[in-house]
Amino acid sequence: MSAGLDIGDFSRFLAGGEAYAVVVVGAASGIGRRAAEFLGGLGAAVGCLDLEPAGAAAAAGAIAAAGGRAIAGAVDVTDEATIAPALDRVEGAFGPIRALVNSAGITGRTNVKGHEVTLDEFDRVCRVNLRGAMALSKAVLPRMLGQGYGRLLHIASIAGKEGNAGMAAYSASKAGMIGLVKSLAKDYAETGVTVNGLAPAVIRTPLVEALPEATVRYMTERIPMRRTGEPDEVARMIAWIVSPAASFTTGFTFDLSGGRATY
Ligand SMILES: NC(=O)c1ccc[n+]([C@@H]2O[C@H](COP(=O)([O-])OP(=O)(O)OC[C@H]3O[C@@H](n4cnc5c(N)ncnc54)[C@H](O)[C@@H]3O)[C@@H](O)[C@H]2O)c1
Repeated sequence: MSAGLDIGDFSRFLAGGEAYAVVVVGAASGIGRRAAEFLGGLGAAVGCLDLEPAGAAAAAGAIAAAGGRAIAGAVDVTDEATIAPALDRVEGAFGPIRALVNSAGITGRTNVKGHEVTLDEFDRVCRVNLRGAMALSKAVLPRMLGQGYGRLLHIASIAGKEGNAGMAAYSASKAGMIGLVKSLAKDYAETGVTVNGLAPAVIRTPLVEALPEATVRYMTERIPMRRTGEPDEVARMIAWIVSPAASFTTGFTFDLSGGRATY
């Protein structure tokens, strides 16, 4: 696999009879949905996985309707037993998984002071965001190592870099994901497998629409560009990070914050 390809070249793998299979977890909605469609449009063969099978099927259907290749499946990142069978199905349809984008996530209750967060709530958020990221990594990394190539991308958050008030559980879980990315990247740095993160600020998705307006205002006011991001802007960066072209970056959590991140 050449390292010099740009992101428009996923279809070259298909032309050679080989699919550039990308799994998107959290493909039913928001960032994952847009990323799945964008990758499908670039010629990647996309496994659309989500807790919500109907939403995943709709994403795969949209890709197919636009002339791309996709299948849908159900996965619950908190239930390890559901992950391997879902990845097996994607491999059965498209061959080896070249990349996995983990866009599954929840905010939990927001606009609450840290001392008001119940430990049950804290566990619930960490179980999806952080433990889920670990479970997906454990499942897909051996497959990538076996082919000496892989792009693993976890969608973290600016909240993990900077800490958002009223979002202790979410911020902590996302900071944990950033640490996980750094550690895994070093474990596999010499293998052809990269592990990166992406830290968006506020992107207009169903997840954000469901937040209290005060929380959205708090987050948007901190963005120097004074606007929310678009799912399309996220999808484009995701596509580059999981492409063969992104060959000398691992362990990094990319910024997508309209200037908010300072590191
Ligand atoms: N939208 C933003 O402003 C923003 C900012 C920073 C980070 N993020 C992160 O980006 C990711 C995607 O966010 P979004 O805005 O697209 O949210 P979204 O709610 O629109 O989509 C999240 C998807 O994850 C799925 N999901 C939830 N729990 C799951 C589980 N246990 N197993 C499998 N799938 C599960 C949901 O069904 C949903 O389809 C999340 O990790 C989120 O924390 C979003």
